[in-house]
Amino acid sequence: MSKLWGGRFQKDTDRLVEDFHSSISFDRRLYRHDIRGSQAHARMLARQGIISQEEAELIVRGLEEILADIEAGRVEFAVEAEDIHMNIEQLLTRRIGPVGKKLHTARSRNDQVALDVRMYLKDEIDAIVGLLKKLQHTLLDLAEEHCETVMPGYTHLQRAQPVTLAHHLLAYVQMFWRDVERLLDCRRRTDVLPLGAGALAGTTFPLDPHFVAGELGFAAVAENSLDAVSDRDFAVEFVAAAAIIMMHLSRFCEEIVLWSSAEFGFIELDDAYSTGSSMMPQKKNPDVAELIRGKTGRVYGDLQALLTMLKGLPLAYNKDMQEDKEALFDAVDTVKKCLAVFIPMVSTMRVRKERMLAAAREGFTNATDLADYLVRKGVPFREAHAQVGKMVLYALGEGKALEDLSLEEMRQFAPAVEEDVYRALDIRRCVAARRVLGGPAPEAVRQAISRARARLDF
Ligand code: ARG
Repeated sequence: MSKLWGGRFQKDTDRLVEDFHSSISFDRRLYRHDIRGSQAHARMLARQGIISQEEAELIVRGLEEILADIEAGRVEFAVEAEDIHMNIEQLLTRRIGPVGKKLHTARSRNDQVALDVRMYLKDEIDAIVGLLKKLQHTLLDLAEEHCETVMPGYTHLQRAQPVTLAHHLLAYVQMFWRDVERLLDCRRRTDVLPLGAGALAGTTFPLDPHFVAGELGFAAVAENSLDAVSDRDFAVEFVAAAAIIMMHLSRFCEEIVLWSSAEFGFIELDDAYSTGSSMMPQKKNPDVAELIRGKTGRVYGDLQALLTMLKGLPLAYNKDMQEDKEALFDAVDTVKKCLAVFIPMVSTMRVRKERMLAAAREGFTNATDLADYLVRKGVPFREAHAQVGKMVLYALGEGKALEDLSLEEMRQFAPAVEEDVYRALDIRRCVAARRVLGGPAPEAVRQAISRARARLDF
């Protein structure tokens, strides 16, 4: 089979090499962006008088038919044609004849592939931002129901101070919001048209990249042809942002795994989002959460692959860069799949409020509140801290919570304690008193929810 670049060659490519360097098995997913890019390029060539209007129309129409054929599953791509770019060009020439051979005027696959990947990534970023927003709405809906659902907050995975489930969920809303911002920021730098850079040094033809940018919806045009074909920063940035999204999902999943254990018993996952064991009939496992946690590693790997692939490359294009795609695609697919399954898993889980409340009660999570109470009675904080510490030790020995101790018992350790101490130890009051901005008090959380909603709807 004759190659599109076969002119200066006297021998066919070795079969092993053919397979080895072909990327069609994975870059075929760029077909739509490749075709849209080529159509805009052809229109621009005609506007600039480089090809005729009729030729451009023939090319644009031919490409539209090829697009329809690919979508209908009527196209077999050829490994010998190497990649999606040359496959489509070959199909075009077969379909419309010699005019098809004019499409690649003033263009190289180097600027073409950079264009396709940027177009593809912009669409995928939009899709992922959509999923992240949906996830945040889901979390906010759940938070709204649980502004009064008291649970222990943890440090070192030891019960620390009382918070609410709503407050805990809102922490994740913040993380996912930063993820959205990171993606949108990365999108700005992805939104730059590289077409016109040619192989590396631009072209002698009078192109109009601004016209192409307008046709394809790019906000800017690359300023330097060498950079335009060598830059994959946008892909690195995206995969870095994807790795952070996965890290956030993974932390959440770890909590879901813990919370659904008998030891915590804070939630029960819906049957539709858990699985059983082939041997142990009683098991109900949080596999979905575990798998998301596990898949985080592969996205970290994708990031490492991209950075390492790029680190030693001289300008401009090098074939190494073909290796950008599988890592990028894998990161896109993994993040999308994980978000898509995570959202319904969380929205269908059953919350066991009584277990959360009991854990907050049993865990001395109101000990800081007691120290603060003593401070209000005039005891220096460091002393109050020590008094309450001794009281906790005593209560542990008695198998009691702080609020179960009598006034006399308490006064052995903290003489400043008065009758009103029981109000101060009430777990709901402890939460409600944390009214500071960003705190867990139900009224503070309700305000945070409406701020988050306003931000999302903007
Ligand atoms: N399939 C190639 C890639 O993905 C397209 C660019 C090839 N350019 C070249 N000069 N070999 O990077």
